Amino acid sequence: MQLQTLAREPRSAGPGTHLARRTVQWREILADIRDAALGTILRKLSHDRNCLSEEAVAVRTERLPYNLLKARKHVDFFGQFTQFRGLSVIDIGCGYGDVAIGLAKAGARRVVGVDLDPLRIDCARRNAEVEGVGHIASFECLDFVTGWRRPETFDCVLSIASFEHILDARQCLGKIYDCLVPGGALLTRFGPLWLSPYGAHMFDFTRVPWVHLLFSEKVVLEVRREVFRPGQAAARYEDIVGHLNRITVSRFRRHATAVGFEPRVFRVNPEKDTKWRGLLRPFNSLLNATPGLRELGAFTLLAVLDKPADSSGIKAPTSRHASARFSQVESGCL
Ligand SMILES: C[S@@+](CC[C@H](N)C(=O)[O-])C[C@H]1O[C@@H](n2cnc3c(N)ncnc32)[C@H](O)[C@@H]1O
Repeated sequence: MQLQTLAREPRSAGPGTHLARRTVQWREILADIRDAALGTILRKLSHDRNCLSEEAVAVRTERLPYNLLKARKHVDFFGQFTQFRGLSVIDIGCGYGDVAIGLAKAGARRVVGVDLDPLRIDCARRNAEVEGVGHIASFECLDFVTGWRRPETFDCVLSIASFEHILDARQCLGKIYDCLVPGGALLTRFGPLWLSPYGAHMFDFTRVPWVHLLFSEKVVLEVRREVFRPGQAAARYEDIVGHLNRITVSRFRRHATAVGFEPRVFRVNPEKDTKWRGLLRPFNSLLNATPGLRELGAFTLLAVLDKPADSSGIKAPTSRHASARFSQVESGCL
């Protein structure tokens, strides 16, 4: 296609412009050849065992029952930091609603689950009714950042495996702060973080670590479409269904500081890395301990952030004190 364009190039432009345009076109052709070669390599390093059409995804979601084990795991884990009994909780990026339903069963007074995927919200609503907690757990299908407008406040905000998907993480943290009561807390755990080996979330079809740093965005997303989700065309990681916002530990810390949260827990890699039976662990530990390379070994982030009890809805100004507080509580293990 581009070779044809090159052949049909009008000869009226001046020699300088003409040369510059030809150089650009040759560069594009070479980039296409490089991408085709890299695409072939990545295809060889990928599999299509999880390939599903959009219809098949919908059918699968429709049949998903409440996942008790998953709910218990998260409710118990976050229960270390907050007693949910009697609290009002909002779960942002609630997915199929398992944790929200689990919280309702664990004695939360009121739970609202928010997710922008209508299939997941339908599944959550249905399972809440089946589990007999539909009167406690309700679900809203919307983008929390752009669509949540209720004046309601909550004792606690939970967000699991979602912060790397929420496009405007800074604004999201601001909205979370606003919908917390003074003294309330955000509890979140998410990842893989962008610069970690699986930060591109392409693990459903390839195990190549740092695939997004080794291959261009165009190549990765083309192969993704071919072998994983043929119904999803995306030109950027931000555009894939569910989105990816390229968040890192330092970016999240900066946003949370700017919003005025007081960190109680800020822990990189709260669980040991079990991928490849822990073979990567020594390597990750080395990365984690090396300034400048730390983000490459930062898989997940656990944060418990408090809205100060004396905040009365007024955001604290960004200050050195706030960043110092993050450094004091920050920890990381591998
Ligand atoms: C990886 S899933 C995690 C779901 C669930 N928390 C869990 O642990 O199974 C991330 C979810 O975030 C949702 N999401 C992404 N951006 C969102 C936004 N701006 N508002 C609400 N939900 C969002 C996606 O639709 C997706 O269901």
